[in-house]
Amino acid sequence: MKKITSVLLASALLGAALAGCGGNNNAKTDNTGNAAKATNSANSGAAGKTPKVGVAIYKFDDTFMTGVRNAIDTAAKGIATVDIVDSQNSQPTQNDKVDLFITKKYDGMLINPVDRTAAGVIIDKAKTANIPVVFLNREPLPEDMKKWDKVYYVGAKAEESGTMSGQLIVDYWKAHPEADKNKDGVLQYVMLKGEPGHQDAELRTTYSIQAIEDAGIKVEKLAEDTAMWDRVKGQEKMAAFLGSHGDKIEAVLANNDDMALGAIEALKAAGYFTGNKYMPVVGVDATAPAVQALQDGTMLGTVLNDANNQGKAAITLAALLAKGETPTKENVGFNITDNQYVWISYKKITKDNVADAK
Ligand code: GAL
Ligand code: CA
Repeated sequence: MKKITSVLLASALLGAALAGCGGNNNAKTDNTGNAAKATNSANSGAAGKTPKVGVAIYKFDDTFMTGVRNAIDTAAKGIATVDIVDSQNSQPTQNDKVDLFITKKYDGMLINPVDRTAAGVIIDKAKTANIPVVFLNREPLPEDMKKWDKVYYVGAKAEESGTMSGQLIVDYWKAHPEADKNKDGVLQYVMLKGEPGHQDAELRTTYSIQAIEDAGIKVEKLAEDTAMWDRVKGQEKMAAFLGSHGDKIEAVLANNDDMALGAIEALKAAGYFTGNKYMPVVGVDATAPAVQALQDGTMLGTVLNDANNQGKAAITLAALLAKGETPTKENVGFNITDNQYVWISYKKITKDNVADAK
């Protein structure tokens, strides 16, 4: 009995400490009495105390998602206790993690799906257990989102990032007549795609080229292949593109920075970025190594995929839902669209405004 009492006391103190440092408005009700009921909260929400949120990331070994993961961890301070797990790029593994969150009676879940079409099954389970769920980065299908009103999505409009990366190429092409190496008035490009089926891969690919054509520039696709968001694969695919098309290539578009950085490695190995041998390369994310490449002059431009605000919005939303509260623009601090979506804006980044990406 004595032991139980001290555990309860410790958790009450911890709860009070967490509430205190976050300026959480439940601090007043967060007393020993409430802490004693802490194990019993899943179906009623965690009103009055710090909620427990289970967070499953599609894989830890992803540069951009590592930034989001760190942002979740930081923003959780004072508003939620988070258990962040690695789904290791396997949907069955992620489903097991979700089952575990449910067995442990967590108050909320924050899921970055491995396969976005698997969200429907997760939503069914969450609804049965009455545990609200926030998805991020990989957008569930609209019909799945409609299954329950305690389901939200935090992400960025893939089309917007595609358009912006195309515009970076347009600006360069217009300012540099020598970019048309074979002087045929057509932009010969290669495309490094992210994971097929991912909304960011499909829409960035389409909208980047659309933006170039909308600017009145004729394009010719020399090659396109998936490098699965991965730097090493990006390097290998770019080396293969160079092997078959060589100096015919006039621009490289990549759906993310890691693949763009891989392409830059392959280009360097082929003698680019020394003397006046140059290649415009664009990516998306504005990760730290990409910002470095912008400053070095190897990467032409990127698009800021705002990991900090995506992580912050997602955990704030999950914590509110976990406490049984209704999210609003005021308590979340971000606009909510169609009652279920929080959209974080992208931003074009070049050497001239790198500070905006830091
Ligand atoms: C994208 C990002 C990629 C990769 C992917 C994972 O938004 O641009 O770098 O992290 O998400 O789902
Ligand atoms: Ca040309």
